[in-house]
Amino acid sequence: MYKSLSSVTWSTSNLLKAWTFGWMRSRMGSCDKDAEMVAPKEEVIRFTSDSLFKVGVSREDSYVIGHHLMTADYRGHFSHGMNRMPMYVQDIKDGMTDPCAKPQIVTDCQAIALVNGNNGLGQVIGKFCMELAMKKAKKFGIGMVSARGSNHYGICGYYAKMAIKQDLIGFTCTNTSPLMAPTRSKVAALGTNSMALGMGGLGDDEYVLDMATTAVAVGKIELAIRKKEPIPESWALGMDGKVTTNAEEAFKAGRLLPLGGVETNSGYKGYGLGLMVEVLCGILSGSEFGPNIRHWKTKDKIANLGHCFMAINPQAFNCGSKERLSRLLKQLRDLPPVDENKPVMIAGDIENQAMDRVDREGGITYHPNQLKACEEFAKDMGIEPLKLVPKNVN
Ligand SMILES: NC(=O)c1ccc[n+]([C@@H]2O[C@H](COP(=O)([O-])OP(=O)(O)OC[C@H]3O[C@@H](n4cnc5c(N)ncnc54)[C@H](O)[C@@H]3O)[C@@H](O)[C@H]2O)c1
Repeated sequence: MYKSLSSVTWSTSNLLKAWTFGWMRSRMGSCDKDAEMVAPKEEVIRFTSDSLFKVGVSREDSYVIGHHLMTADYRGHFSHGMNRMPMYVQDIKDGMTDPCAKPQIVTDCQAIALVNGNNGLGQVIGKFCMELAMKKAKKFGIGMVSARGSNHYGICGYYAKMAIKQDLIGFTCTNTSPLMAPTRSKVAALGTNSMALGMGGLGDDEYVLDMATTAVAVGKIELAIRKKEPIPESWALGMDGKVTTNAEEAFKAGRLLPLGGVETNSGYKGYGLGLMVEVLCGILSGSEFGPNIRHWKTKDKIANLGHCFMAINPQAFNCGSKERLSRLLKQLRDLPPVDENKPVMIAGDIENQAMDRVDREGGITYHPNQLKACEEFAKDMGIEPLKLVPKNVN
């Protein structure tokens, strides 16, 4: 049924390029000076969800995805926010994702469940699975949900934060298209396989580790190309399977090094972590795994990604873990820094700083190029353009 949408006449592929360029420019740091206008958070949700609604996603699911993408931008991860929306729209248009699919529980055994996403939208499946894991954690102390039949599900930190809001520890990870060359391999066979673990301390205090298991995201290589800069030796292999510092060659080859880099820099640990994610996602769920997943942005088959979600109730251990966590985080933040201007941080602090800034300024700052791409996209889609408001400078 959803394949019939491919007859829609608007085209998103050119816009995708402009869109990505806008995001890269914003990562180059020029947006601070240029932009006087910001997009309020609710307006970003409205814009993204209107776009998805237009290609057959229900109002409810469009909001779920819109909220997720807005949150990624709000947290400063512009590569995974509104920037991703045209790709989701294009995947629906190409019949690669079913906009109407609903996740379905395949097996449910006490603290564990397996979910089939039925090739629906990743964020809708992700929210469903995390909610199920949290429900189980409240009943059994721990809940684990494995998902297959899914698509790109956004930032892992979103799901960890869902659990923190319910006073639970949240963990999630996902497999992705092959982009990482395992240690000693000439070619890519695992994805950027990201993961997040989060726990709340006292008040708003929290630890949210949210990271890919490759040395860097592909976006950082694209950025080096724009800046005409070489990349460090620890990032990627070239077409010949050897480490390259040439950003264009690295981008063309699509063989990122695992977290840590080459073998002598302990890159095998990043490789091991990427494989750990694959065990929890692809192997357990029955989804595609490793080199069998379709390549990034190809359309030869559906993605059939796998995810893992876990929720743990720390109160089940009854050790005052919230207080203990906050004490540890304070001890770490209070360590004497090497550079006085750069205090020791906790995973999640940098995202909290980004969100504080958005709140102070009254909305999210996008690069002018991304805003221009939004304008064209809105015209093509026949939706209300993204409305901006003046940045709050007080
Ligand atoms: N769904 C997918 O397929 C997919 C794939 C890759 C990445 N992602 C998402 O992309 C986003 C970016 O990933 P990334 O690996 O580039 O993240 P990153 O390198 O920007 O940050 C990784 C982690 O390090 C922490 N951190 C940063 N600086 C720190 C410091 N000085 N001290 C202590 N902690 C610090 C951050 O808070 C974060 O938790 C994540 O949200 C991730 O989930 C998703």
